[in-house]
Amino acid sequence: MLKVTTRTLRKNKQEKRPIAMITAYDYPSAKIAEEAGAEILLVGDSLGMVVLGYDSTIPVTLSDMLHHTKAVSRGVNNAMVVADLPFATAHLSRSEVIRSAACLLQEGGAYAVKMEGGDEILENLSACVAAGIPVMAHLGLTPQSVNQLGGYLYQGKDEVTAQKLIQDAQKVEAAGAFALVLECVPEELAEVITESLSIPVIGIGAGRYVDGQVLVYHDLLGLSGQWHPSFVKVYAEVGKQMTAAISHYVTEVKNRQFPEEAHVRHVAPETVGNLYGGKGIQ
Ligand code: KIV
Repeated sequence: MLKVTTRTLRKNKQEKRPIAMITAYDYPSAKIAEEAGAEILLVGDSLGMVVLGYDSTIPVTLSDMLHHTKAVSRGVNNAMVVADLPFATAHLSRSEVIRSAACLLQEGGAYAVKMEGGDEILENLSACVAAGIPVMAHLGLTPQSVNQLGGYLYQGKDEVTAQKLIQDAQKVEAAGAFALVLECVPEELAEVITESLSIPVIGIGAGRYVDGQVLVYHDLLGLSGQWHPSFVKVYAEVGKQMTAAISHYVTEVKNRQFPEEAHVRHVAPETVGNLYGGKGIQ
């Protein structure tokens, strides 16, 4: 894969080549995702839920994001690493937002940051862009506002909220975003938004007529337990395989079947004989 840049993504949209994005949170997941051909690795603040065990993304801090972004960056050669700005950061003062975003690029090694929100974050979005920080926007269901939205619900289902989403999408593009994540909106609305923008629209729960798709690593690999959102396709039950493998190991340890001869090292019998002052092991 050639180095993925904002220009690559724009070209993909123009040439109607779908963009594959997936979340990654650490060195091994980043390596696997890049090797599999994903063009964008998102260090999503969903890590709060799938890796850190919180029940929302709200408790995730900048230092959590930095820690995981560094690990992902170490696992990647050419894919684009995008790191989420954590809860409420996009609403801080202009200099604080730029400082947080810059830290994810300078220390974390990210290529770009993702900011949730529309109208209310436009000034900070364009301030980051002016500072040389590529920004991916995020509209529709914005999980950091879950308490405000009253749950993880589809957005833009009526004319008023759909119009607001269309306008916000145009505003984030005008403010300089290089791409837009559109989460949980009806397929018809996602198509209208995608057609109306020149930047790529990456959908999650936004149907088929967008410029690319993103899924959470743990969801598509069957690592999220029993429940997952209805828009997720589980491509492999890796979680079940992991449980089976670990349970096999536990059984073998308890039955003294592991380790076997292949897993041990020996010393020469005379060395053993000379231990303990020539008396050998008693
Ligand atoms: O945090 C995340 O993983 C995200 C994706 C769901 C787009 O924002």
